[in-house]
Amino acid sequence: MGIFITLEGPEGSGKTTVSQLLVKKLIDDGHQATLTREPGGIAIAEQIRNVILNKENTNMDSRTEALLLAAARRQHLVEKIIPELENGKIVICDRFIDSSLAYQGYARGIGIQDVYDLNMFAIDGFMPDKTLFFDVDFITGLKRIQENNREVNRLDLEGNEFHQKVYDGYQEVIKMFPDRFVKIDASKSIEEVVAAAYKTVIGMI
Ligand code: TYD
Repeated sequence: MGIFITLEGPEGSGKTTVSQLLVKKLIDDGHQATLTREPGGIAIAEQIRNVILNKENTNMDSRTEALLLAAARRQHLVEKIIPELENGKIVICDRFIDSSLAYQGYARGIGIQDVYDLNMFAIDGFMPDKTLFFDVDFITGLKRIQENNREVNRLDLEGNEFHQKVYDGYQEVIKMFPDRFVKIDASKSIEEVVAAAYKTVIGMI
């Protein structure tokens, strides 16, 4: 069995750039690593992603959003993550269950426990081995999104209050799973963040 590592953090925390560099470095150094992301990662889940993130879907109910994310997660897990782990790979996944706990559970106000229970049905207890939390305040994160011209999605369009809640939600989730989480200071340069993430992953092998 391989190692299942998830990356979490607020918008613009640099996860996506860092994850690509991290996996490249692991592969260059001879490790069997693969990168995937949520919502998405495989065809069915990418289709669900388009519904979730479509800026026109302004009337989407929070529970519908949570259910769609959990459905995409289920398909991604059985179709990609588990088979890759069975092949002995290090699977790096950009967002997983903790995004749902922080965004839908806490920031949308459904409740972390209810979203956890919903996700347990979807993932059947299959939790990550380690989760790296890319720690950056939401103002810095949103500024980075503007500077990098990243495409803005439906959730980016939420106000500051929502993004602060996402950050606070993550703090609650970290308290629930202190052994699984590793905090990475994501206000530092990309090189430094990649080095810190790499060190954590290597430490697990
Ligand atoms: P994405 O463009 O992948 O953003 P990022 O680079 O910040 O990860 O968009 C994913 C969006 O979906 C992001 O706003 C977080 C949100 N999301 C949830 O609200 N709940 C979830 O369970 C997941 C996986 C993502």
